[in-house]
Amino acid sequence: MQDIPHIPVLYREVIDVFQDIKEGIIIDCTLGYGGHSSMILESNPNIKLIGIDQDQTAIDFSKKRLSQYGQRVSIKKGRFSQVIKEILQEVDPKEIKGILADIGVSSLQLDQKERGFSFESDTLDMRMDKDAPLSASVVVNEYSQNELEHILKEYGELRNYKKLASVIVQKRPFVSSKELSEALIPYLPRGKKIHPATLLMQAVRIEVNDELGELKGLLQTIKEVHPPCAKVAIISFHSLEDRIVKQEFVKWSKSCICPPEAFRCECGNNHNLGKILTRKPVTAQADELKQNARSRSAKLRVFQMDKDNEC
Ligand SMILES: C[S@@+](CC[C@H](N)C(=O)[O-])C[C@H]1O[C@@H](n2cnc3c(N)ncnc32)[C@H](O)[C@@H]1O
Repeated sequence: MQDIPHIPVLYREVIDVFQDIKEGIIIDCTLGYGGHSSMILESNPNIKLIGIDQDQTAIDFSKKRLSQYGQRVSIKKGRFSQVIKEILQEVDPKEIKGILADIGVSSLQLDQKERGFSFESDTLDMRMDKDAPLSASVVVNEYSQNELEHILKEYGELRNYKKLASVIVQKRPFVSSKELSEALIPYLPRGKKIHPATLLMQAVRIEVNDELGELKGLLQTIKEVHPPCAKVAIISFHSLEDRIVKQEFVKWSKSCICPPEAFRCECGNNHNLGKILTRKPVTAQADELKQNARSRSAKLRVFQMDKDNEC
């Protein structure tokens, strides 16, 4: 077996979520290095698994890693917001018993300097899919000052986004994430726990990979199709994503979807898709926090689809 380049986060909690699924299909929307998928295949011996990833390196690795499970596994390359639509058209939604998304970048993507994700990187790329048209170089070197202000404010939540955008415009072009972060460090807030350039990198990466759009698209498709008894488990790594998941699950759990100002209910009061299984997000236990630094910011939320009260 090859060395495993990524330790799955909240691995016990993910196994627990899907433990009672005896048959059918579980979709792993973020296959990565097959960590969660291989554990799910082991602990649920009669299920089939469909894995999605947009990164060919991750797919090649996981194909080998999961080959021992033969026909139980199929792997699809692409963005999950699109691929999940195709899967839910090909497969009877009743067959889908679980959907997992462990969003964000993998440790390998961060560690491989040539991918451009880290502030140490020698390139300015940050594409999860190396064939995607938009790279960090385009965002940083070609976006207008207004567009840069928008992504730094919305995706990095950086208070001095105007100053940062103007410094980027004055000092560009940049050829690497290292050069960009070094030039901006004097203007970035000093965090106690994180590198000063973390939020800058996050903002650019979210734009390059349309990460929030992808998450919203995924949740939208799941809502529209609402596979009858599926458990939907989403792991996120920053507050922007967690907020989207939390708010969407709350909407799914509501029976009445009339606007708050409506005088009386006119929607039929039958829109509830199931129930939220995690009132608060699940976070890593102390032993995992020690072993895997990445687990520090991981938050898991789970929703049980059950529109007809049959599950
Ligand atoms: C945190 S890693 C997943 C690790 C995996 N759970 C494991 O245990 O090995 C996230 C993976 O999801 C992929 N990914 C992120 N956003 C995606 C999207 N919108 N569509 C497809 N793959 C995506 C990344 O390329 C990366 O390989």
